[in-house]
Amino acid sequence: MASSTAWDLLVRRDNLTAFECVPADPAPLEPGTARLAVERIALTANNVTYAHLGERAGYWTAFPAPEGFGRIPAWGFGVVEETAHPEVSVGERFYGYFPLSTHLTVHPAPSATGFTDTAPHRRRLHDFYSDYRRVGPYEPSDDLRTALRPAYRSSLLLAGSVTAATDRRPLSVVVSSASSKTALGLAERLGAESDVVTYGLTSPANRAFVDATGCYDEVRPYTAVAELDPAGPAVFADLTRNQDVVSAVHHRLAGRLIRSILVGGTHASRPLDPAGLPGPAPERFFAPSAEEEARRAVGAGGAEARRREYQAAEERFTERAADWFRVTTRTGPDAMADAFRQLIQGPGDPAAVRVVRPAAAS
Ligand SMILES: NC(=O)c1ccc[n+]([C@@H]2O[C@H](COP(=O)([O-])OP(=O)(O)OC[C@H]3O[C@@H](n4cnc5c(N)ncnc54)[C@H](OP(=O)(O)O)[C@@H]3O)[C@@H](O)[C@H]2O)c1
Repeated sequence: MASSTAWDLLVRRDNLTAFECVPADPAPLEPGTARLAVERIALTANNVTYAHLGERAGYWTAFPAPEGFGRIPAWGFGVVEETAHPEVSVGERFYGYFPLSTHLTVHPAPSATGFTDTAPHRRRLHDFYSDYRRVGPYEPSDDLRTALRPAYRSSLLLAGSVTAATDRRPLSVVVSSASSKTALGLAERLGAESDVVTYGLTSPANRAFVDATGCYDEVRPYTAVAELDPAGPAVFADLTRNQDVVSAVHHRLAGRLIRSILVGGTHASRPLDPAGLPGPAPERFFAPSAEEEARRAVGAGGAEARRREYQAAEERFTERAADWFRVTTRTGPDAMADAFRQLIQGPGDPAAVRVVRPAAAS
């Protein structure tokens, strides 16, 4: 396919290995709509989770596709290429939720920070996914930022939830899939808290990578859960949704575990069965709900200070993380197909960050 052609990566909803970049023919804009060229997106385990939860949680509804197929969502940057909206201008750049496509047509409702896409098909998904933030021109750190921003936003919310829920100290926090960006962000954030001790659990092959980041007080492979001996009460943040990992941690920490939080599904092979797990019942973490809660907690008066604090924390994390990750940025449909193939084949090198620029001109 010519790299100048508009295209969508379509995947069979019931078989993620069946996918293809197919030419797209965007319809003329209706009044009140605008079209963004997708400038760059990053693929992480999170995108696979979106696909796995596509039917149940509505992720397939974000971007319409032919019957039986889906367009997988990803976070990234886009630039307005065409507009039929009086308050949205060509050339404006936004951060938000995009399909693995060259273009996204939106129905913008302008806000103080950008716009909300009010397209009717997006109503099933939480507002969190329809919020597009206006950003400045491209800068080189945006490539890594494309991968880290969505993860780190969840890390900050998760860290807030972990520390706010108890005053007991020292507090131990055990984090699985410790090499994932979301987990690293969580550990980095918790590292700033006094009397919070973090324990990372990871695949044996990823242990050296996780150790080298210095984010955790202690790092162990999944095979050594039995050696965990955290001080004080413990919280478990699970990003694997793997029965064996969750069960091993619950048994090992029995009596000391005060919360078990299900965050992700990087090693999910079958639905998690919480029956028979000792300790607290696992609770689900959902970043959009945590965001709502955090906004309510600070109120309208604290919103700007919170936004600045999050932004500054993200900048610090992105600078620090630049030493851990190797970013490759490729352009066009073949690059997208390769990156998606590598993602679903997994597990890949945790240091590799794959950014794709769908359209050659962006
Ligand atoms: N609930 C929420 O609101 C929320 C918010 C953000 C993220 N999440 C979830 O958190 C998880 C991590 O997301 P992320 O963007 O941080 O991912 P990421 O950086 O791409 O995570 C990569 C890590 O996941 C593990 N992994 C990935 N693919 C695998 C495979 N095929 N087989 C075995 N292990 C694999 C490996 O870690 P190890 O070897 O260390 O296990 C790998 O280093 C995702 O499931 C995502 O959906 C949830």
